[in-house]
Amino acid sequence: PLVTYVDHDGTKHEVDVPIGENVMRGAVNNGVEGIVGECGGGLACATCHCYVAADWADVVGEPSSDDERDMLESAADEVRPTSRLSCQIEVTAELDGLVVELPARQY
Ligand code: FES
Repeated sequence: PLVTYVDHDGTKHEVDVPIGENVMRGAVNNGVEGIVGECGGGLACATCHCYVAADWADVVGEPSSDDERDMLESAADEVRPTSRLSCQIEVTAELDGLVVELPARQY
């Protein structure tokens, strides 16, 4: 499935992320620097913060756990209703075409 990561400055990175992989790893494995993923997906860092594009918010849904919600509060940049920790979004066929926007900073 194709995932488009949009940097804070508008630069787009289109990445084919395997099904079952998460959106954080799709970025890190392909040099998308706007996502750091320092803890490796362990819900212990919030450096994988992203904003799900408005068109996709309903499909992706809200934070998948209270732990994700709690950790989001530690995000360096503004938290919005569409904020997610990208390591908690698993790529499925349904998410082909997903667009996520990246915050200006992760620290
Ligand atoms: Fe650390 Fe997502 S990579 S919480």
